[in-house]
Amino acid sequence: MNDHHDKDIDELSGIETTGHEWDGLKELNNPLPRWWVWVFVVTCLWSFWYFVVYPAWPVPGGATTGTSGYTQFKELEASQSEISARQQVYLDRFQKAEFQEIMNDPELYVFAKAGGSSAFKDNCATCHGSGAEGGKGYPNLNDDDWLWGGRVEDIYTTLLHGIRVHNDMDTRQSQMPAFGRDGLLKRDEINQLVTYVMDLSKGQDVQAQPGHVLFQQNCASCHGADGKGNKTLGAPNLTDAIWLYGGTKADIYYSIFNARGGVMPAWKDRLDEQTIRQLSIYVHELGGGEETMRESDPAAVPMTPPPAVSGAADDQ
Ligand code: HEC
Ligand code: HEC
Repeated sequence: MNDHHDKDIDELSGIETTGHEWDGLKELNNPLPRWWVWVFVVTCLWSFWYFVVYPAWPVPGGATTGTSGYTQFKELEASQSEISARQQVYLDRFQKAEFQEIMNDPELYVFAKAGGSSAFKDNCATCHGSGAEGGKGYPNLNDDDWLWGGRVEDIYTTLLHGIRVHNDMDTRQSQMPAFGRDGLLKRDEINQLVTYVMDLSKGQDVQAQPGHVLFQQNCASCHGADGKGNKTLGAPNLTDAIWLYGGTKADIYYSIFNARGGVMPAWKDRLDEQTIRQLSIYVHELGGGEETMRESDPAAVPMTPPPAVSGAADDQ
């Protein structure tokens, strides 16, 4: 410790120096400001309290646990169960409600669309695109041009059983013949039909064309005499210039010569019932969905949700 005699006082300020010297410069030994000392003391006390109460020091096999037993896992669990409790309220109501009720209930509608939107990104975006814009062979789900029907019940059936799924009895089924490959039409007949279909899509008067008779004989049974399509058969409207497989001469020739037959998986064994219903509502809203069914509609599928399929929503 400094002895009285060793004290080195700065001449100018009259303040004691620390005794260190760098090239003639000396450091004044001013006392620390009071406030600083107090902050320092409080910080030290706080950190001791923290070491005792919270997990802090690494020790072999983990860390000191602290007296409070706090862990971030517990916090995560708590916030997760809070979220699922909040969702459960909607899910319970959603499960009991029919499509029409859901769409008339703003809260449930928002809930369904949010669930559908995230399920879409996980399951459907690979084929239909993340914005559901589709691509060659994969229909755009944003427009109101529907192959198999745009009522929410139609979409639900399409999702449940898929399209041309071999092992699903209730799948959407219909197969356009491969007119060229199977020798049903000659090449020049197909070429006449290509011209006919292209003009049809441009809204031109096609009645007098040589393709007209061919179309009525071979195509009208599915695509309709006017070419406007048939949703029970998934036969596209050929008058709207919306092409699933492309609208060039070569594309259309290929469609008629080989036929296409797009396949979509059935979702009933892959997704739970409530997710499929949420997706139906989401897709319906995306694509200018059509009015829901009237009860008198003979083709109506039951609107109450059928019994839940395997591993349904109770485990969510
Ligand atoms: C493996 C690719 C693939 C995946 C994945 C897929 N789809 Fe499809 N989807 C298709 C194809 C192909 C068609 C058109 C089939 C046809 O030619 O009729 C289709 C048709 C549809 C239709 C009928 C559209 C209409 O105009 O009637 C809907 C609705 C639909 N998909 C929704 C979905 C939803 C929702 C998902 C996710 C759960 C999904 N798809 C996942 C390939 C797929
Ligand atoms: C048995 C019903 C059936 C008959 C008959 C039929 N089609 Fe089709 N056609 C379909 C279906 C279903 C599709 C959609 C194919 C798919 O999605 O894979 C289709 C698709 C097409 C396409 C592609 C449309 C697009 O958007 O890309 C063209 C073009 C077409 N048909 C023309 C014809 C012509 C021309 C004939 C007569 C020579 C004909 N079809 C006869 C059912 C039929």
